[in-house]
Amino acid sequence: MSAPNKTYDPVEVAVLAPEEVQRMQAEALAAIAAATDLDALKAARIAHAGDRAPITLANAEIGALPPAARAEAGKRVGAARGAIREALGRRQAELEAERDQRVLVEEAVDVTLPWNRMPAGARHPVTTVGERLVDVFVNMGYEVAEGPEIEAEWYNFDALNFPPDHPARETQDTLFVAGPDPDQRSGLVLRTHTSPVQIRAMLTRPLPLYVVSPGKCFRADALDATHSPVFQQIECLAVDEGLTMADLRGAISAFVDVMFGAGLRTRLRPDFFPFTEPSADVSMECHVCRGESTKPGAEPCRVCRSQGWVEIAGCGMVNPRVLVACGIDPDRYSGFAFGLGIDRSVMIRDGVADIRELHEGDVRFSRAFGVEA
Ligand code: DAH
Repeated sequence: MSAPNKTYDPVEVAVLAPEEVQRMQAEALAAIAAATDLDALKAARIAHAGDRAPITLANAEIGALPPAARAEAGKRVGAARGAIREALGRRQAELEAERDQRVLVEEAVDVTLPWNRMPAGARHPVTTVGERLVDVFVNMGYEVAEGPEIEAEWYNFDALNFPPDHPARETQDTLFVAGPDPDQRSGLVLRTHTSPVQIRAMLTRPLPLYVVSPGKCFRADALDATHSPVFQQIECLAVDEGLTMADLRGAISAFVDVMFGAGLRTRLRPDFFPFTEPSADVSMECHVCRGESTKPGAEPCRVCRSQGWVEIAGCGMVNPRVLVACGIDPDRYSGFAFGLGIDRSVMIRDGVADIRELHEGDVRFSRAFGVEA
């Protein structure tokens, strides 16, 4: 700020001369009018109304005028600053309104666009079929029994009457987790079937016994169209007084009715399993051709390979040696058992030709089965 003048000499404070102040105001108003967006207006505000703006600096010089001249100069500068402020406010409002209008158009959200582009997943048919089968047996009074996937060799083989040299114990068939050691009676395997759960149930549950055991099984098979190293089985076991193969047949029919539709005939043919005696394999009438494909000149059937029957399970009466190994009196009690692959049943039911389709986890595959509860 300059030192106070003794007399009013507008030349000494040139910036306060009326024409100077008017020029500053005119320049400011022109800049404000020329600002076409809010950033430009901000720059104009700083240049023409900010702390370092000519008019602000001029205002600071008022004190340098002789006292008699201050009021008049102050009035003029004040009016000019007021006009600039007012122009700034008006232009600010105009530009904000313009911007709001533009944003409304440019950033408009179309609330009519579809929102549900993320489709819901679907439960895997092996899961839903397994649950449905368990439900059927639970409704008939069976209990669910589970066992570990890493199983003692004793439960998986010995107690089920597999001899020590049975080929199933070879490493090309069975995945060993730990071999037998000198202090241990039994090695550890990834269970190759759900049958060891039979042993666990007989050893721990009171008689009579009706259990159903679904679960994962493992075998040392390479994955191809018909083999998978991991698959699911469901096992059914009943031990009671007076059970016969007729009871076994009834339980199997209940399974077939639920899985493939009521009314399909079943067929038992002699087979061999170490833990059942007698043993049988279970076939059902082909649910696709119902035997028609076996007639001369008929269309071939892909599902039963024109045999008319499809093999679905292994079964039998629990071998008395197994009952004895579990501390059950075979003269008083008898039992029946059957076991089948859930994956395989789904493949037969739904005509899935390649087992890998069940395991690839592609939701397009599962979705084809619907979102079954
Ligand atoms: N555990 C047998 C397998 O994996 C299937 C089986 C056969 C289970 C006969 C049974 C049975 O309960 O009685 O091949």
